Amino acid sequence: MSSYVRRKTPGDTEWFVHDRFGMFIHFGLYSMPARHEWIKSYEMISEEKYDTYFNHFNPDLFDAREWAKAAKRAGMKYAVLTTKHHEGFCLFDSAFTDYKITNTPFGRDLVREYVDAFRAEGLKIGFYYSLIDWHHPEFTIDRFHPRRKDADAYEQSKNRDMKKYAEYMRNQVRELLTGYGKIDILWFDYSYSWLSKELDEPWMRGKGKEDWESEKLIALARELQPEIVIDNRAEIEQDLWTPEQHQVLEWQRHEKTGELVTWEACQTFSGSWGYHRDEHTWKSPKQLIDMLVNTVSCGGNLLMNVGPTSRGHFDKRALDALNVYSEWMKYNSRSIYGCTMAEPEFTAPRGTRLTQSEDGTRLYIHVVEYPYVYLEMPDMTGKIEYAQFLHDGSEILFTEGYLAQVGDVKVPRNPDTVVFMLPEIKPDVIDPVIEVILKENR
Ligand code: GLC
Repeated sequence: MSSYVRRKTPGDTEWFVHDRFGMFIHFGLYSMPARHEWIKSYEMISEEKYDTYFNHFNPDLFDAREWAKAAKRAGMKYAVLTTKHHEGFCLFDSAFTDYKITNTPFGRDLVREYVDAFRAEGLKIGFYYSLIDWHHPEFTIDRFHPRRKDADAYEQSKNRDMKKYAEYMRNQVRELLTGYGKIDILWFDYSYSWLSKELDEPWMRGKGKEDWESEKLIALARELQPEIVIDNRAEIEQDLWTPEQHQVLEWQRHEKTGELVTWEACQTFSGSWGYHRDEHTWKSPKQLIDMLVNTVSCGGNLLMNVGPTSRGHFDKRALDALNVYSEWMKYNSRSIYGCTMAEPEFTAPRGTRLTQSEDGTRLYIHVVEYPYVYLEMPDMTGKIEYAQFLHDGSEILFTEGYLAQVGDVKVPRNPDTVVFMLPEIKPDVIDPVIEVILKENR
């Protein structure tokens, strides 16, 4: 069994750390301008102009079953959908606002269709819910708000009441957690109470747990769905640490106690979360696989984002990227599901990442930089029962304590070193995986 002990979490994270790989979906009105999901803030777009998107929102090609199938094919085991992003637009039929999808030409509750379709494919269901809201009339104007540069911004903002907004959030979270059956993840986003207090007009300060009344919000979520996995972005520690848009090099630890925590990296295929037509920094197939492998090798999960087009489908670039995962996971998923960081007794050879099955019986060497022929691994003699490539189940020969044999002469190596003999030509797969079946008594 894995010897790593994670800090205890209030929700049920057992399934979560087993499943390892999920799909993030950013969908909203911002999919129409297709210039980033922060567009309303970046371009300080007026309500009138933004209403054009609302009035014409009609993702006619949307089919939740296709989204769900694409996620499943890619090897993803759960999904997290933006039920409301910072723009404030709700993809569900909320009783507490008119600013919702059922009032657009589309007219359907997209969250409901998402839940039904993903559940039918056996995926776990997550809701992203934005704490920030650039539409709500009680949400005060701050440094991120689209109205921040209006000459009368202070006048507009001064009578707004964040308490009413906090109550609105509780009402909506109640709707989301009572109207759609069992919800597995609640992903709040995000707090910024750190935002420079000195530089700002005091009334433009950042927002955090006091503004959201996070304690009440989280208590409510726990009461309605006790096992739900909740992230830390409401500024109260819950289940999940969520490093964003970067790859960590080590298992994340608790800031105070140093304990290992449950964590999930979230990343995009290209720079933006929402559909961005003209953004061209799409990651290469190798980068996509490297991210997944690296994350699990550090004991984490990967939440990989798709931004559907405003017509409601995944564009070719997104499908191609998902396909990279499908192809790879078809043969290599055994090195991901139910796997975690390898035990400290194993040292990753240069150019590799290690994962290990939770039950400890199998070690996976992910060859991210392919060597010529020999792959040397220290402290391994006597531990291996059998080794094979995972993608085709072909045996990998290895020697213990010597490099190779010429006639009856052995070229010596440190007695503890195992040398794996790889084919000269790298097999035509990204990051080939060597599956090492370990001896029971080693
Ligand atoms: C950020 C952004 C947001 C995105 C999120 C995903 O906090 O504000 O647009 O949804 O990250 O992690």
